[in-house]
Amino acid sequence: MKTFLSGIQPSGLLHLGNYFGAIRQHVQSTAEPGEHFYFIADYHALTTVKDAQRLRELVRETAITYLACGLDPEKAVLFRQSDVPEVTEISWLLSTVSGMGLLERAHSYKDKLANGIKPSVGLFTYPILMAADILAYDSDIVPVGKDQVQHVEMTQDMAGYFNSAYGSEVFRRPEMRLQKSETMQKVPGIDGQKMSKSYGNDLWIFEEGKALKKRVGKIVTDSRPPQEAKDPKELFVFDLLALFLTSEELQEWQDKVAQGGEEAPGYGHLKMRLKDAMEEYFAPARERRKELLANPKMVDDILAAGAAKARARAQSVRDRALQACGLR
Ligand code: AMP
Ligand code: TRP
Repeated sequence: MKTFLSGIQPSGLLHLGNYFGAIRQHVQSTAEPGEHFYFIADYHALTTVKDAQRLRELVRETAITYLACGLDPEKAVLFRQSDVPEVTEISWLLSTVSGMGLLERAHSYKDKLANGIKPSVGLFTYPILMAADILAYDSDIVPVGKDQVQHVEMTQDMAGYFNSAYGSEVFRRPEMRLQKSETMQKVPGIDGQKMSKSYGNDLWIFEEGKALKKRVGKIVTDSRPPQEAKDPKELFVFDLLALFLTSEELQEWQDKVAQGGEEAPGYGHLKMRLKDAMEEYFAPARERRKELLANPKMVDDILAAGAAKARARAQSVRDRALQACGLR
């Protein structure tokens, strides 16, 4: 039986990029035979979130988002990373077999440096903790977005270094499963850059009503009039619409824009279609979110049950690793 595992950081309200790039794929994978582990990477979030109350709220919100988006706690183990402290132990063991050079090559670290973030040691060793997350559960398949590919490759390397250092197959080599659709891999934000919390260009999946209208209204366009024929490929609003519309409807709008003339929709029209489609798509999940917000005990119970299952598994892998390297 295969073990699926993935995680997401509780570093902000989850946006369309997180949903279509990660969460949806996670939820869908639980339909496949196997064991499924999904967790909220709160240890990782400490590298960026420094407000305790905010972090607690974001962890809860992230758990609720997964459940509201259809993760069934009967089919998948949903848990908080920090409820399994064994991962930090495994992370130490991995750090002793991983070269500095491996970590220095990490794109995500280099990108953060380039963006002027003052790095902590934790930010630098982030991939080691992520490797521990994956290896602690004997994971076979790790569904991730494109930006996490290098981290999973590093995990494969670290498992190999440890196994060859101690001459035994302590850690199972994981394989990644990549989001295939290009549309879902790089969801644009309201400014056309990759959607990201840190760029301030994101659309929260549960936004609705006036607030959503206002946010969608800010999608960057130009001053060309509706009548002017335009190349739909140049308009990233279509990349957002593509997430929700049927391919037929999308094509119709694109044809009208390409033709121009009196029939052609203006930018405002396209934005309104996006608002309506997004609101409709997430309506059932929004309702479930409200129910879960009103029932904190249920969420706590799900996380506690998840923690117990995840921890038992990580403990046995941790014991195996300690045994192999002479600490038991
Ligand atoms: P982050 O909070 O930026 O680390 O994102 C969590 C996960 O969501 C990432 O691993 C990506 O797979 C996915 N993701 C984030 N932003 C986008 C985006 N704009 N388009 C597609 N996927 C994204
Ligand atoms: N680094 C991932 C992200 O930012 C989150 C994460 C932490 C993760 N540990 C993991 C993903 C283990 C997959 C497996 O999205």
